[in-house]
Amino acid sequence: MEVWILFNEEVEGPSAEAFEIRRFLEEGRNMGVDVKVFRPEQFDLLVSERDRESILIDGQRIKLPDFILPRTYVVDTGYFALAVIRQLERLGVRVFNSSISIEMVADKLHTHQALVESSLPTPETMLAKFPVDVDLVENHIGFPVVVKTLLGVNGNGVFLMENRSAFADLMALIGATNPNIQLIFQKFIAKSKGRDIRMFVVDGEVIASMERRAREGDFKANYSQGASVVEFEPDEEAIRLAVRTAEILNLQVAGIDLLYADEGYTICEANTFPGFKGLESCCNVNVPQEIFKAMQRHHAKGKAERVTLEEFETFAEFEANRAAKLQE
Ligand SMILES: Nc1ncnc2c1ncn2[C@@H]1O[C@H](COP(=O)(O)OP(=O)(O)O)[C@@H](O)[C@H]1O
Ligand SMILES: [Mg+2]
Repeated sequence: MEVWILFNEEVEGPSAEAFEIRRFLEEGRNMGVDVKVFRPEQFDLLVSERDRESILIDGQRIKLPDFILPRTYVVDTGYFALAVIRQLERLGVRVFNSSISIEMVADKLHTHQALVESSLPTPETMLAKFPVDVDLVENHIGFPVVVKTLLGVNGNGVFLMENRSAFADLMALIGATNPNIQLIFQKFIAKSKGRDIRMFVVDGEVIASMERRAREGDFKANYSQGASVVEFEPDEEAIRLAVRTAEILNLQVAGIDLLYADEGYTICEANTFPGFKGLESCCNVNVPQEIFKAMQRHHAKGKAERVTLEEFETFAEFEANRAAKLQE
């Protein structure tokens, strides 16, 4: 089985993401999985009916792999990387996770829209519109309020506004300087201040979970923001929420973050290529191995079947079916 990882940093670099790529390479060697790492910009996307067996990399035709594992953030690599994933998908390469899911989950509002549609608990969330109607935010969400950039990751672009006047001042500043920025406002889940739960789901199962605890005085519990991590023994409800969220968003590999709510949990967000350096440090789990094992189970089915539009009533049905086929 050959797996291509899409990554846009130096593999030997110092980041946690680069460390994780090296873990995939190491486990691939142990398991006899042929793992190669490419940057999105190494690809050229020639769209043509003539060749469905290869793709251009560094100007050379290279035979397609069995799987792709995208590990680049949409906020960094944008349209181009999504176009590369789509090209590979359309050529029948299986993918964990699909371009449709990656794009949807990168958008925090879209994620909440999908979860609410399926009656899953999430904090009340609102898309910002400038000039901001502070009364409206106060009435529907209340203060303190969490402000997030729509596409942010790793806790960058998440702010807690403690009260109405701090919020109003900041919004006036943004409205005057950068009114086209996409922001969301979200109800602050006070019970979870500085703590959350990361549930790691692979192919429909929770393989490990941990509680993340923010540094003293911080409210964001991201590992990349310096939070400490301890293994978490999930109850049935936490498992149900994580598995169902991954299912609804059609994610084969997912980091589902839960907040402690007054009763049970509420879903903070989903991540399509969750880090696992912190998780492996506190749980007895081998994340790359679990992902490759899941791929091997699916690989036995061969190339993803091509589906044609005529078989479906609507384009949305067609797309949903195509996305499902890619991961069967
Ligand atoms: N509504 C909220 N209430 C309380 N804490 C929150 C809320 N939203 C986010 N947080 C905290 O901030 C962290 C980062 O927010 P998140 O939405 O996951 O952004 P990112 O994608 O940057 O990780 C979360 O892990 C959590 O600890
Ligand atoms: Mg997060």
